[in-house]
Amino acid sequence: MKRWNAKYPRRFDLDSNEDYLKWRDEKLAAYPKNVGELVVELGDMTAMTPAEKARILETVERANMCVYTAGSAELEMNSLLALGQQLGVRHTDKSARHAQSDELTDSGILNRAIPFSTRHCNWHTDATYYGSDNTIQALFLLCKRPAVEGGSNKVLDHEVLYIQLRDKDPGALEVLMNKDCFNYRNPATGEIDLHRGGKVFWTNADGHLCHRFSFRKTDMAWSGDSDVAAAGHVLESLISDESAYVIEGRLESGMGLISNNVLHTRERLVDSDDAAKKRLLFRARFYDRVNPE
Ligand SMILES: [Fe+2]
Repeated sequence: MKRWNAKYPRRFDLDSNEDYLKWRDEKLAAYPKNVGELVVELGDMTAMTPAEKARILETVERANMCVYTAGSAELEMNSLLALGQQLGVRHTDKSARHAQSDELTDSGILNRAIPFSTRHCNWHTDATYYGSDNTIQALFLLCKRPAVEGGSNKVLDHEVLYIQLRDKDPGALEVLMNKDCFNYRNPATGEIDLHRGGKVFWTNADGHLCHRFSFRKTDMAWSGDSDVAAAGHVLESLISDESAYVIEGRLESGMGLISNNVLHTRERLVDSDDAAKKRLLFRARFYDRVNPE
C-alpha cells in the first residue's frame, strides 16, 4: 500500500505545494495504463480471501477503482452488497429510491431516464443531485448480461482530474473547491433545491477527495456567478478532451466495477429484442468509501 493519505495529508490543500507535488508524481507513476491493470480475479466475490482483498485495496488506492471477476458467486444484487460489506461499505441509498433503480437495464423506468435506456451517458459521477453534504462516495456494479453490442464504460479517477486541473488552472480549482457551484433543479417544476447543492471538489472528514459532476443540465442548476461559470467551462473542456488517463472497458457477464464514484460514461449499446436477454447490470451506491484510512 502507498498510504498516501497518511504520508501526504495536505495534498489537496491549495495553500501548500509540498505534499501535492510529491503525491502527484507518485500517483501518476502508479496509475494503471489500461483496463488489464485494473482487474482483480476473485474465487468468490461473496467470500474473498485476505490476499484478494489486499489486491483490491491496493488497486483502489492507485486508481480509486478496480474491475473484479465474481468467481463462483451468484450474479445478483446480494452478491454485490456482500462484496461491499467485506470492503467496509454498507450504507446504501436504496431505501430512498425506486425499487428497480439499481437494475440497469432498458426498462424505461423513471421517465425513460438514460441509465434505463440504450443511449449514451456522458461523463458524470453518480447521484450528483444529492449535494456535497450527502454524497455517494462509492459506486459498485456487477454485470449479469452485457449488451449484444456496445455498452462499454470509460472511467477516469477524479484524483487525476484534480491533478490536471490544479496544474492547468489552480484558480478555477479553487472556485470549484470553495463555492456553491450547482444545485438540484426539479426538471418537472424548475424548482431549485438549495439543500442539494454544493461544491464540485472537496475533501471528506478523513482527508480524501470527493467530486460531483455531470454534463447533464436538465436537473442541475449551475450558479450564474461568472467565476463559477468560467471554472465550470475549464473543467468541462478538460473532461471532454479525454486525456490518456481515461480507461475504457466493457463489463462482460460475471465482471464488475468497484469504485469510489469515479467519473464515468456509458457508451451507446445495441440490446436484444428478447426481454430475458437484455443487458442487465446490478448497481449499488454507498455513502461510505473504500479505503477509508
Ligand atoms: Fe453512472
